[in-house]
Amino acid sequence: MTVTELSQQRIPRHIAVIMDGNGRWAKSRGMPRTDGHRRGIDALKRTVEAAGDLGVEYLTLFGFSSENWKRPSGEVDDLMWLLRRFLQSETARMHENNVRIRVIGDRSSFSKDIVALIENSEQMTAGNDRLHLTAALSYGGRQEIVTAVRALAEDVAASKLTPKAIDEAAFEGYLATADIPDPDLLIRTSGEQRISNFLLWQIAYTELVFSDVLWPDFDRGHLESAIQEYNGRERRFGAVAG
Ligand code: IPE
Ligand code: IPE
Ligand code: MG
Repeated sequence: MTVTELSQQRIPRHIAVIMDGNGRWAKSRGMPRTDGHRRGIDALKRTVEAAGDLGVEYLTLFGFSSENWKRPSGEVDDLMWLLRRFLQSETARMHENNVRIRVIGDRSSFSKDIVALIENSEQMTAGNDRLHLTAALSYGGRQEIVTAVRALAEDVAASKLTPKAIDEAAFEGYLATADIPDPDLLIRTSGEQRISNFLLWQIAYTELVFSDVLWPDFDRGHLESAIQEYNGRERRFGAVAG
């Protein structure tokens, strides 16, 4: 896309991405799956940079699902190693670029040192506002909803909230994404057309774009194409077209 064509596009305020296809990328090259994950991190860095340049305000990336713990322990260990290295080496750069980092998901499943690195990245970048980067790690949409329901039930039991006061807005306040707007655009790479337990509540009216590209190959051009496809959609939110 040319710069002029791009400037005519509406940029989604919030883009969510299911970064899929690392394993198949590696397999097709006769490489171990870890090499696909490693190259997937390069694609992630490219995407963060491109989204920031385009003026996207919120980028939410699915990096590891609550179900991904079921993978062989060698692969899980490699992913944890890559996560550690990413948090150690990229936090300062993200901070320089005014990126705020947040992690959603069940962090109790991570080792203590990873939890400390996550807390450090969140604290260091807490005041940044150019791009809100949310990493969904050990994240599952159903788990997030159940956790929210439990917290809400505790507040009701403690008489801090009456059942009558529970509406959509009140419930959203208990989700991990409480102060993040719903995604406008969700991209899933690798040709799979499913949600795999990503942001179940939040994507009620999100536009879905499925791309055949394997995540390690994803670049600025693919992001721009997805935005172009988004621009061709008519968002009606249940109403009649204007
Ligand atoms: C996505 O790539 C990354 C993670 C889920 C951690 P996959 O590892 O799922 O790659 P495929 O789907 O096997 O190709
Ligand atoms: C979803 O991909 C999770 C991430 C991309 C982090 P999976 O590869 O785990 O999903 P399924 O198993 O194909 O549904
Ligand atoms: Mg996959």
